Amino acid sequence: MVHDMTRQAGWQAWLEGGAADEITLRENEAAWQRLRLRPRVLRGLDGSHLRCRVGARTLPHPVFVAPMAHQAALHPQAEAGCAVAAAALGAGFVLSCQSSTPMEDIARLYLADAGRGALWCQLHWLHTREASLAYLQRAADAGFEAGVLTLDAPVQGFRDRERASGFVLTLGTGSVNLPSSPAHTLIDLLAAAPTWADLAWLVQRSPLPLWLKGALHPQDAVLAAEHGASGLIVSNHGARQLDTVLATADALPDVAAANRQRLALMVDGGVRRGTDVLKALALGAQAVLVGRPVARALAADGAQGVARALRQLLDELTIAMALCGLRQPSQAAEAAAAGDFFAPFHANASHSRL
Ligand SMILES: Cc1cc2nc3c(=O)[nH]c(=O)nc-3n(C[C@H](O)[C@H](O)[C@H](O)COP(=O)(O)O)c2cc1C
Repeated sequence: MVHDMTRQAGWQAWLEGGAADEITLRENEAAWQRLRLRPRVLRGLDGSHLRCRVGARTLPHPVFVAPMAHQAALHPQAEAGCAVAAAALGAGFVLSCQSSTPMEDIARLYLADAGRGALWCQLHWLHTREASLAYLQRAADAGFEAGVLTLDAPVQGFRDRERASGFVLTLGTGSVNLPSSPAHTLIDLLAAAPTWADLAWLVQRSPLPLWLKGALHPQDAVLAAEHGASGLIVSNHGARQLDTVLATADALPDVAAANRQRLALMVDGGVRRGTDVLKALALGAQAVLVGRPVARALAADGAQGVARALRQLLDELTIAMALCGLRQPSQAAEAAAAGDFFAPFHANASHSRL
């Protein structure tokens, strides 16, 4: 049953659209698709599983639900539907700070499931150091296990498709966990944009390990490690911020090389198939986040839709691993390092060294 969203004019444009001409939006998916697999055979598949290490944790599998704002615009179950389905499927769940559900309610629902993955909370820089720290403290008190600071959205990207659609948030879809913002103009936002010094301040005081989300440059991975971050999510915000930035599949290898395993790495953007997840692991990520496919499933059928979408992705991953001769996710990076995994002469020359 499709929930009646006609009252939310333009919600599809808001969900599906990217920045400007959507060049990176298309590239995010195309870059995974360009990579060609070169499987090994007869290696034995007994004892295969999806368990993996992400940072210090062992998780049921390497798939997280990405933080996505205003899920009440998609379905009445909103973040609660998404979180319950993620927990039931063992997926990690990252709650957007622009959630329309109180974070304590989400924590109660998600943490009640014994088979759950990891529960993290995302925040944008909340204009001051103290407000950002207070948000992390509230999340820690509620039971969240890590914070994710989004770096690529000090101002919002210019989204033509969304603007043309006339999308506006309606009553009940606002950000209930956030303090009221002191920033009202673009100049206010620019003045409040954080720096590496702000990050170091926050990391030192944060009650939660802090991941950074939204870097593409290898040097920023080095700086993130130097400033005490726990992990880095290679992301371009699902191509919603700056059009023509490089696809995350193309950014990940250089970031992983510069990182030299100092930080835990994850990636998102255009991950649609089990083969995409496997390629991300082979390129150096410990896990992936999935955005729009989960949001579409929530819009179509609430928690059940999300559960089905995650189930299919995990089944695809299981099958892709088996057909590549891999018994566990960590073997993907080993296979790539041994030159086993990617075909050497695929279209994207930047990966030909693998
Ligand atoms: C509708 C929508 C809302 C989003 N809201 C947030 C957000 O509040 N915070 C954030 O860090 N990223 C946000 N993102 C970006 C996602 O976390 C993620 O980086 C991206 O969706 C991954 O790409 P994919 O949609 O191609 O899987 C949002 C993405 C979408 C599609």
